[in-house]
Amino acid sequence: MLSIQENQPVEFSAVLLEQFGEIVSRYPEGRQKAALLPILHLVQAEYGWLSTASMDKVAAYLHIQPIEVYEVATFYTMYFLRPQGKYMLEVCRTGPCCLVGAEKIMQHIEKRLGVKEGEVTTDGLFSWRGVECMAACGYGPVLQIGPEYTFYENLTEESVDELIDTLRNKAKQQA
Ligand code: FES
Repeated sequence: MLSIQENQPVEFSAVLLEQFGEIVSRYPEGRQKAALLPILHLVQAEYGWLSTASMDKVAAYLHIQPIEVYEVATFYTMYFLRPQGKYMLEVCRTGPCCLVGAEKIMQHIEKRLGVKEGEVTTDGLFSWRGVECMAACGYGPVLQIGPEYTFYENLTEESVDELIDTLRNKAKQQA
């Protein structure tokens, strides 16, 4: 994953542009805006988040106005508008999961990682946030981890600790 700062100029790689082209080719001429969501996913996978400069670049690529990209990126919560940790822990905070301890799990994650919701750990590995129902209400508390959106159910403080340790080790091995 490449690292970028807000307003840092962005040049999409040849590989990324080829992927953009393949997506745009699925739609009729003049309907290239339909490719916006998947293209934003690719940009986010490349940089970890969507900077204004990267969204402007997408707008130029699709021949649409920057505002048309901003309004999509700000509407869907799956797009990150500021840098995130390599692993984003998203905990369901909707009623049924709260009834079985989701709030306690979020407090535990905050304490364990030492960062508040939306912040990034100093090693750049983790961020966390509460999200709305993930349609696994009978298996709460649940969380998913981006960027692959792997799902974990029936969480306990112990299973969350194990998960964080596993991800730390995985990141070490990849370094
Ligand atoms: Fe948590 Fe539905 S309430 S998955």
